[in-house]
Amino acid sequence: MTIQAPEGTCDLLPDEARRWDNFRRRAFEIFGNFGYQPIHTPIFEQTELFVRGIGNATDVVSKEMFTTISGGNLEKLLAGEEIKDKSRLSLRPEGTAGVVRAVIQHDLVPNGAAPAKLMYAGPMFRAERPQKGRLRQFRQIGIECLGADSPSIDAEAITMLMTFLHSIAIPPERMTLLLNSMGCEKCRPTYREKVRAYILENAENLCEECCSRAQSNPLRAFDCKNPKCARVMDFAPRITDYLCDDCREHHETVKDLLDEIEIPYTESPKLVRGLDYYTRTVFEVQVSTGLGAQNAIGGGGRYDRLVEEVGGRPTSGLGFAIGYERCILALEAACVPLAKQRGIDVFFACVNEEVRKRAFIMAYKLRNAGISAELDHQNRSLKSQFKMADKLQARWVVIVGPEELAQEKVRVRDMQTHTETVIDLPAIDNFISSVGITLGEAL
Ligand code: HAM
Repeated sequence: MTIQAPEGTCDLLPDEARRWDNFRRRAFEIFGNFGYQPIHTPIFEQTELFVRGIGNATDVVSKEMFTTISGGNLEKLLAGEEIKDKSRLSLRPEGTAGVVRAVIQHDLVPNGAAPAKLMYAGPMFRAERPQKGRLRQFRQIGIECLGADSPSIDAEAITMLMTFLHSIAIPPERMTLLLNSMGCEKCRPTYREKVRAYILENAENLCEECCSRAQSNPLRAFDCKNPKCARVMDFAPRITDYLCDDCREHHETVKDLLDEIEIPYTESPKLVRGLDYYTRTVFEVQVSTGLGAQNAIGGGGRYDRLVEEVGGRPTSGLGFAIGYERCILALEAACVPLAKQRGIDVFFACVNEEVRKRAFIMAYKLRNAGISAELDHQNRSLKSQFKMADKLQARWVVIVGPEELAQEKVRVRDMQTHTETVIDLPAIDNFISSVGITLGEAL
């Protein structure tokens, strides 16, 4: 049997690969306008970073991490020997922990400095059960802003998220922006106890996992996909009734700023998000059709304790990530046409083998001048070469024939009007640029 890509992964074939490049480029352009700078962190980090950062009691860390051991260490482990903690590595399940680690390691937010605004894009890995919209390797674009605690940065990030989602043409009526506050270390413990008590009181109507979570992480019960649990949790205590004055004021200001710029949102006291680092603002964009249970296309929030938890000075933080594959599914469900491949500028069709060398040289010159050019390398008939030019959506076909070449001329066919012109060879590049081919802009 031929070897297939691993379950839960997918190849991005040329059209899809181009789409991902465009998606990333568009995001970076928009986020760049808000002052964000690119950062690339490793695809794997010490496992300890995710355990401390994301939380041991989350599904992402307790069940879904791809943990890797390098060859020599694997032998040691198999032989029952201990290995150093720093040799336990995991593929990143998300981007925040790695960016925060890099910010601490390189001191990107020295005392009194302006916030570090960072953006990233790349693959993330979660060993989840694959299904539509749920992959084991998926792509995210994201931002992290470290060192700003004002609610205006929360509102700004949400604006940026929505601006990007609108820019890729996900219909606004299909998106819902959910907003909540998770409180802080002062007010959340009381709330957590209330939810724990509520779960224990309603244990007979909740699934086993929700009940066992009552001890370790009661708020996770809000995330349970079991409809019976969801109904019970609808009546659970609401965080918004337990926020301390500072958290309430922060939350109200975020909402006020969003109202001012008319970004619609739905308050969702059940939104707890699946990662443990959040404090105060959390948000998520869900789409109404096409994605079933995996309907969150992006989300994020504030994490004012995370930097300390992974060993840095107290520094507030906030960010979000958008899932590429789920956005594409949302666009497909909304029948939004995806960008077409841009055709090539010029195809050189050789009448016989002898003229190929000249075509090769002309193509070389045009490509150097920023004009995309292609020619046949398989000695195909003229008819097949025209078919190839059609397939490549060539704007022009330069027909290189021995008779014309003898007079230092070629025939140029305009593939839109199907008219032909005979032109002098030295004028070929002038001709092509003068008839309106834009240089450079290949997508
Ligand atoms: P997250 O909600 O776990 O947040 O993931 C963000 C987005 O990644 C989701 O909304 C979804 O579109 C996509 N996604 C997650 N898991 C999968 C999967 N298995 N298959 C396909 N797509 C998936 C985070 O990752 C946080 N780091 C966001 C953040 C940044 N919070 C603060 N800063």
